[in-house]
Amino acid sequence: MAEVRVTGRDGSERRLEASNGIALMDTLRDAGTGVEGTCGGACACGTCHVYVAQNWVDKLPPKSEDEQMMLEAIGELVEVRSTSRLSCQIQISDTLAGLALEIGPVP
Ligand code: FES
Repeated sequence: MAEVRVTGRDGSERRLEASNGIALMDTLRDAGTGVEGTCGGACACGTCHVYVAQNWVDKLPPKSEDEQMMLEAIGELVEVRSTSRLSCQIQISDTLAGLALEIGPVP
């Protein structure tokens, strides 16, 4: 279980309890943060886009080639930053306790 600090698109802040072993996207979607996860975590829609806090970038597993390609694709439509991640590609574990992120814009 990891507590995740989430800033919404409207600037509101929330703390969510995320269960180990599931994708971060599932927690964000189920909590009504605006993350849709339309493709169900197949790295094919970009609707789970988040900006992670700068100090968390290097603590997360590196992006796969598929995630990088999807981020480049949505970058044609929305702002993608060096801190952008697809939350469906981040599996929750205890090591993510305190992860801070902002819900990103989606295509
Ligand atoms: S849920 Fe579709 S890319 Fe993450």
